[in-house]
Amino acid sequence: MKTLVLDEKQIDIAADILKNGGVVGIPTETVYGLAADALNGAAVAKIFRAKGRPMDNPLIVHIADFSDIRRFDLVREIPESAEALAKAFWPGPLTMIFKRTDAVPSEVSAGLDTVAIRFPSHPVAQAVIRAAGTPLAAPSANLSGSPSPTTARHVLNDMDGRIDAVLDGGASAVGVESTVITLAAGTPRVLRPGGVTVEMLREVLGEVDVDDAVLHQLAEGAEAASPGMKYKHYAPKANVILLKGSDRAYIDYVNAHAGDDVCALCCDEDLLDLKVKTVSLGRRGDYLTHARHLFDCLRRMDENKTVRTVYSRLPSTEGVGLAVYNRLIRAAGFEVIEL
Ligand code: TXA
Ligand code: MG
Repeated sequence: MKTLVLDEKQIDIAADILKNGGVVGIPTETVYGLAADALNGAAVAKIFRAKGRPMDNPLIVHIADFSDIRRFDLVREIPESAEALAKAFWPGPLTMIFKRTDAVPSEVSAGLDTVAIRFPSHPVAQAVIRAAGTPLAAPSANLSGSPSPTTARHVLNDMDGRIDAVLDGGASAVGVESTVITLAAGTPRVLRPGGVTVEMLREVLGEVDVDDAVLHQLAEGAEAASPGMKYKHYAPKANVILLKGSDRAYIDYVNAHAGDDVCALCCDEDLLDLKVKTVSLGRRGDYLTHARHLFDCLRRMDENKTVRTVYSRLPSTEGVGLAVYNRLIRAAGFEVIEL
């Protein structure tokens, strides 16, 4: 099967494929998604096959209006906290977890009694959901274990021949996956940090917890609140090592370990001082730009077959920095060297 490449004028073709139970790569503001009709279990199962995704890892259901939650009878109740968050951050890079109804196929919820829902802001994502006339289940459109795709080209690199089509809507503006917050029990808790920061969530809700798995490795045998957090993620083929220390200490350490197989995942201000291959995330302290470039940088380093070791600074945990931290610490297998 050849994968069709569609442009923004061909949304109806993508929608027809989806209505007929096919799988289409779609742009969103966070990362590209691998979409299928969320109410069609057989269609959703194809997503797991295309990605090589474990069946116990549930998918996010994408809607094109807050009222779709009721229209498609997806959740048992809408807590007040969800209405407040929707008002503040939807459409946008926030996923909320609710108690689900039986309208949600077991393939989507992976056996949990909850469902994750997101209303994306990307106009092409909204248009294709509307044209399909059904909510779309979509994980990130990468092969399981590789960095999430932020362009249609990235999707094709992983998925060519494995899915029906990819809809090109340009590069994703946020660059890391949505913030996931559960409202299904007790104090709202962030399971995955993203473009909507913990600080922003606290401004709306007051108390918000951050799940242990955001910053730390899960203990052997511990159960993950978000099944995705237990898998090794965002792993480039090279060995990623995080360095904690001053800007000068970072540069000195990397130069002391220079070699043909070494690459620095760095900032613009480091470029002149580093004596190894470099890939820059953007200017120091510009966490939004770092998030936007992160996965493309990881993919570019992988394309350079000689790179075996990648040195990056340990990111800040402030604002969107926490999302970058969460992805890189996993890419590094939680390995940090204190300088
Ligand atoms: O930005 C995004 O969220 C992208 C775009 C395509 O919308 N999607 C995405 O999906 O990142 P995925 O499947 O790669 O990541 C979804 C995460 C996984 O860690 C999964 O375990 C978790 O959300 N998740 C989904 N449903 C859940 C549920 N009911 N309870 C707990 N975690 C859930
Ligand atoms: Mg993913």
